[in-house]
Amino acid sequence: MKIRDLAYDKILVAPSILASDFAKLGEEIKRVDEAGCDMIHLDIMDGHFVPNLTFGPPLVSCVRKYSKLIFDTHLMLTDPMKYAGAFIKAGSDLISFHVESNDDPEKLIKFIHESGAEAGITLKPGTQAEKVFPWLDRVEMVLVMTVEPGFGGQSFMKDMMPKVKAIKDEIKKRKLAVQLQVDGGIDATTVYEAAAAGANVMVAGTSVFRNPAGAAKAIADLKAAEKVLYK
Ligand code: DX5
Ligand code: ZN
Repeated sequence: MKIRDLAYDKILVAPSILASDFAKLGEEIKRVDEAGCDMIHLDIMDGHFVPNLTFGPPLVSCVRKYSKLIFDTHLMLTDPMKYAGAFIKAGSDLISFHVESNDDPEKLIKFIHESGAEAGITLKPGTQAEKVFPWLDRVEMVLVMTVEPGFGGQSFMKDMMPKVKAIKDEIKKRKLAVQLQVDGGIDATTVYEAAAAGANVMVAGTSVFRNPAGAAKAIADLKAAEKVLYK
């Protein structure tokens, strides 16, 4: 499955397994898949680019069999080039890397595509929209962080919305097919701000995996923001 073939004018939900119960990760992935999500978001942290550690390719290959959905892999790594290939081999379909990392986006995008995966470019809250403009016509997705990367459960940064809109407007101006994702603090309320600014792919960890009303309700609530989506 490819993200370029999914809708651009609908809300897509990408639950972040960071908020799941790691002791039963396979079942947790199956649970959100059956609840109607569109992809599975994997947060990879190296304890250097961000002050936290998560997991690596061996875990990705173990859980690959629990869902056929896109494994949307968010590399929060200083050296993404060093590990991108191993994640793709393990089953990652889409690799997003940070524009602030050490590697040359040009080379990394080429490598990801030649390895048969799709590429996303992502930027931290302090990085300006224009930093990703040179690669907009070569990536399948842009990910705008709406929290400082490193931890789940943080508050949504509403002040990132002008940046989301600036990237959306550039995508529209150049008539490109690029998915626009936001990540951090997305729930049934903040999703409306993100959608109104033009983001259509919603990463949601806490609000999906830890929702007392269940994952299906959580996902439906996020998709309801389609009515305000800026297309
Ligand atoms: C933060 C991660 C996010 C995070 C989202 O570095 O990239 O994907 O897990 O979690 P919530 O939805 O709980 O903010
Ligand atoms: Zn993420």
